[in-house]
Amino acid sequence: AVSDSEVTPFSVPSYACQRRSTLENYNAVLTDALSLLAENAELSDEDGRGVAFRRAAAVLKALPSAVTNMSQLTGLPCLGGHSLRVIKDILENGASSEVESTKESERFKALKVLTGIFGVGSKTADRWIREGIHNLQQLRDSGQTLNRAQQAGLEHYDHIKQPVSLAEAEAIRGIVGRAVASVSPESQIVLTGGFRRGKLTGHDVDFLITHPEEGSEVGLMPKLVSWLESRGLLLYQKTTRNSYLECSEGPGRPPSNIDRFERCLSIFKLSAEQTGSGVQSEEIAASPSAAETRWRAVRVDLVVSPISQFAFALLGWTGSKLFERELRRWAGHEKGMSLSSHALYDNKQGRYIRASTEEEIFVHLGLEFIPPTERNA
Ligand code: GTP
Ligand code: MN
Ligand code: MN
Repeated sequence: AVSDSEVTPFSVPSYACQRRSTLENYNAVLTDALSLLAENAELSDEDGRGVAFRRAAAVLKALPSAVTNMSQLTGLPCLGGHSLRVIKDILENGASSEVESTKESERFKALKVLTGIFGVGSKTADRWIREGIHNLQQLRDSGQTLNRAQQAGLEHYDHIKQPVSLAEAEAIRGIVGRAVASVSPESQIVLTGGFRRGKLTGHDVDFLITHPEEGSEVGLMPKLVSWLESRGLLLYQKTTRNSYLECSEGPGRPPSNIDRFERCLSIFKLSAEQTGSGVQSEEIAASPSAAETRWRAVRVDLVVSPISQFAFALLGWTGSKLFERELRRWAGHEKGMSLSSHALYDNKQGRYIRASTEEEIFVHLGLEFIPPTERNA
């Protein structure tokens, strides 16, 4: 007899920002396959296809149990013909030939390795591949001119490709916390990105910093970076002034305080003592090079936001990337609003909508509040 769960199709809302996506995933085999195709599309500058595969994977991630039969998928949103073919292939044959051949293709492998270098995007990687460069040694031997970020990325490649643990993220939070307390005692710092969503590892550590008094956050980033640099804690850093004003398309000119967002993309030098976990000594025992250095390189992103934009910055830097994209799509298509990491703009009323918490932003968007740990779309 066929049980109810096999004949009852699943049901999920169309936008990822309407769904509660925890880290639990009953369909990892399917979502890994679709994520790989998404990654391949993104690396090949086919962003539209990439988003389609990401959306399909996110729908499967949100299901309450494993898919066993194609009939369960009837009526689900975001599952296009291509994604359905891949799912069917896996359900029927245990694997998707397209996914397997992509995974094994020299081009995909080369794109992965080269874009795994901090500072190298898909366009640069594609150019190098066309010049016959497929791996790090060929890149080193090629005499290609590398910018400062790429030089640092190549130098610290092995460290940076190692996932960052929660213990390491917390150690860096301690360091950045002390730095902020020293240069601007009233400033506040929040861990954002994947770690705020409850992930136990990440590719980097993301922080958002603000000051309770509007305007007092100005000049904070250079002081923070100097504090860290003078203590030898940074292997690389590049601070960028926010370009929000230039990019703004809204008819209403934003208030003048709005272009003060600054971000710093950095590589931290995290010593074993700073992490202070038993894992470090095991690593040293296993790897002689770790014993010599006793530190590792970790990618860290620092963002400073004025308090008036803090809720938008927090929402925008918590992710996941797809959840953010879906929030903006919801705002635009369903509410006639424009959402960014700076502000929410009501296109019909022609005005900005203030919010001081993430909860308020969800209310303005007419969405049920989704806590960070359920934004893992
Ligand atoms: P892992 O680092 O791999 O654990 O995942 P993550 O979700 O933390 O990803 P990442 O650090 O790349 O980005 C964290 C969040 O910051 C995501 O929601 C991104 O959308 C957001 N983000 C990254 N770069 C930018 C940017 O240039 N501008 C804005 N506004 N947001 C960004
Ligand atoms: Mn991150
Ligand atoms: Mn980041």
